[in-house]
Amino acid sequence: MQNNGSSLHNHNNMKNYIEANKERFLAELLDLLRIPSISADSKYKDDVRKAAAFIADKIQSAGADFIEICETAGYPIVFGQKIIDESLPTVLVYGHYDVQPADPLNLWDSPPFEPVVKDEKIYARGACDDKGQVYMHIKAFETMMATNALPCNVKFMIEGEEEVGSDNLGTFVKANKERLTADVILISDTAIIANDIPSIDVGLRGLSYLEVEVTGSNRDLHSGVYGGAVANPINVLSKMIASLHDENNHITIPTFYDDVVELTPAQREAMAQTPFDLEAYKKDLAIDDVRGEAGYSTLERASIRPTLDVNGIWGGYIGEGAKTVLPSKASAKISMRLVPNQQSDKITELFTKHFQAIAPAGVTVTVRPHHGGEPYVTPTDSKEYRAAEKAMEESFGKKPVPTRGGGSIPIVALFEKELGLKTVLMGFGLDSDAIHSPNEHYGLFNFYKGIETIPLFFKYYAES
Ligand code: BES
Ligand code: MN
Ligand code: MN
Repeated sequence: MQNNGSSLHNHNNMKNYIEANKERFLAELLDLLRIPSISADSKYKDDVRKAAAFIADKIQSAGADFIEICETAGYPIVFGQKIIDESLPTVLVYGHYDVQPADPLNLWDSPPFEPVVKDEKIYARGACDDKGQVYMHIKAFETMMATNALPCNVKFMIEGEEEVGSDNLGTFVKANKERLTADVILISDTAIIANDIPSIDVGLRGLSYLEVEVTGSNRDLHSGVYGGAVANPINVLSKMIASLHDENNHITIPTFYDDVVELTPAQREAMAQTPFDLEAYKKDLAIDDVRGEAGYSTLERASIRPTLDVNGIWGGYIGEGAKTVLPSKASAKISMRLVPNQQSDKITELFTKHFQAIAPAGVTVTVRPHHGGEPYVTPTDSKEYRAAEKAMEESFGKKPVPTRGGGSIPIVALFEKELGLKTVLMGFGLDSDAIHSPNEHYGLFNFYKGIETIPLFFKYYAES
């Protein structure tokens, strides 16, 4: 173990360095946020690449001894490293520089790619998810390099397709196992409970995402001439979707729950102790009540239970005024969040079979799978978890609580499968940061707290 005097000295040096450079750190992040790196929309393909170049440049100037913008069949993966001693452990930092589309644009109070700092928060698409959190790592690395305090090796792998399913990252990981050799994966792409209640995500849900299309007649029809006599695909689709939940909000797809691991009463009891303010939750969302699967709490519904949700639905006439039409087609995008030990491919197949089976005569149904991902649970008795716990306890002045997250980072299960590596999800966002939503923001407190905490993780992990 390191001598306390020198480690305290290092820590003070780092704090001073962060303090002296905090305005520049923020200004650089705002520059990154100005690049509209929307991976889902090919209109922005030059911008997505620009964001990759920006990230590579900053990792390099922070002190990496190797950097490469690795081409893939899609957007590039930025890989960088600083190896100080082959015999020391290596932390592999993963994150993403791509962002979700910004629409609906009219609901933003300021343009999504013209970041503003208001009420101590940075407003921009990607401010929290995940540019702000990735940038904390680059600045933490710079801080450790500049103060001679990097205690072990570090590798960076920052991708540009997380928001569209990370398809090419899987291929990259399989083809670059040598280069990705490490001891642990560190990711900041999740949230804490509150700024005064630090927490560490110890679980992610899996995902099965698909698109369905219901086709009736071979063309749009006059809704007076044909209405009532021919299947209306929108009516049919609505009814089919409605039938996917019963009156208890259980999912009705046969055998859907077969592989679900139920929490033990003790685990549920522990979860019930997690700080959660239902009234504040409802107030934040301006809803008068919550709604979900009978027999489970809100926290459970949003983390340890599987779900099925329509993410988008369309068909027929949606322009101004009224057009009397019976559409030929109706479509929807549907996501299912999965929990251990459900498997994405298996669930996609179950859904497809069931959805075909419930289609009434008079329509045809097609189901097209998009991306998927597997659920993941991390141990809390590992040295990496303890290092993250110690780091957060020191920087927040309070021991973090383990929480199960509801979102998905599909690559995490893949890292374990392909590289045999465990992940620590040390995120600094808040659920109220409006990720994927208009007015996404990230607190300055959270940004700087991350930059302060990450070097502590490195220190405690290297010591262990
Ligand atoms: N950072 C999120 C995932 C997340 C958010 C996990 C909050 C836990 C708490 C990530 O960028 C994301 O949005 N993932 C997608 C999955 C992907 C396959 C599109 C998701 O969860 O919808
Ligand atoms: Mn993310
Ligand atoms: Mn996201």
